[in-house]
Amino acid sequence: MTDLPKHIAVIMDGNGRWARQRGLPRSAGHQAGVKATRKIVEHCVRLQTEALTIYAFSSENWRRPEKEVNFLMELFIKAIGSELNKLHENNIRVQFIGELTKFPDGLLHEIKLATEKTAQNTGLRLNIAVNYGGRNELTNAMVQIAAKVEAGELSSKSITEDVILQHSWLPDCPEPDLFVRTGGEQRLSNYLLWHIAYTELSFTDTLWPDFDGDELDKLIEQYTQRQRRFGQTGEQVQASE
Ligand code: IPE
Ligand code: IPE
Ligand code: MG
Repeated sequence: MTDLPKHIAVIMDGNGRWARQRGLPRSAGHQAGVKATRKIVEHCVRLQTEALTIYAFSSENWRRPEKEVNFLMELFIKAIGSELNKLHENNIRVQFIGELTKFPDGLLHEIKLATEKTAQNTGLRLNIAVNYGGRNELTNAMVQIAAKVEAGELSSKSITEDVILQHSWLPDCPEPDLFVRTGGEQRLSNYLLWHIAYTELSFTDTLWPDFDGDELDKLIEQYTQRQRRFGQTGEQVQASE
């Protein structure tokens, strides 16, 4: 049996379809999605999960209708504002990963506030991926590394996987053990490309607003039944357990 996952990465997908099934606008689906997110965060606190990384807005989501993008920005501002005290009381350390510069000032303000207020917390690490793209993250890392090489601060020979990780947006988190995507699609959508190289993947048809702690428990239970081999044989892994 594999231990409980220390780091869970989630693609919260299916808000739009959830709303459509109910004859509601997509915005109602996103609102319901915030409630589901709150429940899952609380559940991970109970489980004493070390880190939870959630995909809130991808670098590709700017392609959505302007009305939806604007609604999402407002929703993020409101959600961070209204949840912050509770997150802080729960000893959660909130961080944001992604290219943050493109956001409206109101959102940047909430992001800064949440990050600073919770920086010293020692409980669940909640990483919220906004304007996040895995390729963008790696490109950024490469640009930073190249600049250091140019400046003579780093030699090209000393570029290791760890150096790349240190220039990523998740330099000090354990790698995700479990990846969950709700909403039925079986794709990565540019999420955490570097970090999920050896993550166990789990997909469920449940739409994000319907996803809850019980279902997460089931996926975790399935995860614990898997044997993680990291290139070794099953016998080797068994012998070392
Ligand atoms: C995920 O739900 C939320 C965001 C991408 C912000 P979707 O909005 O992608 O929902 P579907 O996939 O259209 O159902
Ligand atoms: C991925 O979901 C991004 C988020 C959940 C924030 P999408 O619904 O945007 O992904 P695609 O476009 O279907 O791949
Ligand atoms: Mg979607």
